[in-house]
Amino acid sequence: MQQKIDELRAQMNDSLAKVRDSKALYELKMQFLGRAGAITALLKSMRDVPAEERPEVGKKINELRNEAETKFEAAEEEIKQIELQRRYEKEKIDVTAPGRSAQVGGVHPNTLVKNELIDIFAGMGFEIFEGPEIENDYYNFTALNTPKDHPARDMQDTFYLSEEYPLRTPTSAGQIRAMENTKPPIKTLRPGTVFRSDDDATHSPMFSQMEGLVVDKGITLCDLQGSLEVFAKKIFSDNVKTRLRPSYFPFTEPSVEVDVSCFECGGKGCRLCKGTGWIEVLGAGMVNRRVLENCGIDPDEYTGFAFGMGIERIAMLKYGINNMKMLFENDVRFLKQFKD
Ligand code: DAH
Repeated sequence: MQQKIDELRAQMNDSLAKVRDSKALYELKMQFLGRAGAITALLKSMRDVPAEERPEVGKKINELRNEAETKFEAAEEEIKQIELQRRYEKEKIDVTAPGRSAQVGGVHPNTLVKNELIDIFAGMGFEIFEGPEIENDYYNFTALNTPKDHPARDMQDTFYLSEEYPLRTPTSAGQIRAMENTKPPIKTLRPGTVFRSDDDATHSPMFSQMEGLVVDKGITLCDLQGSLEVFAKKIFSDNVKTRLRPSYFPFTEPSVEVDVSCFECGGKGCRLCKGTGWIEVLGAGMVNRRVLENCGIDPDEYTGFAFGMGIERIAMLKYGINNMKMLFENDVRFLKQFKD
């Protein structure tokens, strides 16, 4: 029995010297002092020791147990300290190291222009609405005086989800919704995404438009020009002039293209205005009587003007961007140059 006790002590001391972490230490402790541990087993085996030897042997085993408990306690404390030290080392941060500055994002130029346009027109009393991007044929074409066999349907290459449902080609579809839902006076601005099968340096299959509509008694082309002049001065420069050129849109009569005098060269002629001194910015006109009638508005009592502009086009002109693709690539080096 004495030999067993000595062997166990030697074994314990040996293992304790090798233990490196608290998990291994705990397992070792269980091996000796756990319910199924070696020292516990030794205590249980006291039953087999002859009665006269029991006090002596019991004392020795108890001594071993006390010694084990003390040693394990000390080892636990030591390993706890070592592990704490290791953690400190691992989690150490160098507060003197140079910092990594956070990247500051910017508002996309398209959004900047859109917000600016909304501000300008809201300032003139326009209400802002957004409509659905999937339109039905009626709102996208027919109600805008472009029935099925109308040649003007070919002015825009349309994406169709089905024969009845195109992706909206102009935000003009929102005019119809506005006139169906509200009685004049109407003053509404409708920003939104539109889709056309068109793709080059100045066209993209998906782009944004802003549609304006005013309907009231006695609205004339002068109101249109006056409103758009305010817009052009605010968005480009105080010095720009506007001019109206005759054009054609099925939903307006008369229809016009609105040009602004070149804000780059002041009208003398440069690369931006292709030497003409004028830059085309949007389409507009007086709302066609038929469109008013389609929406249940009496064209003998009310008149209106409408306009539609491409937001990317305005952004490209305003910021001197020569390829529309840049507005969709989201290259941070490009986007960083725009600040509110
Ligand atoms: N819908 C036209 C386009 O997408 C723009 C437009 C022209 C809108 C004249 C209008 C308008 O409201 O009156 O090219």
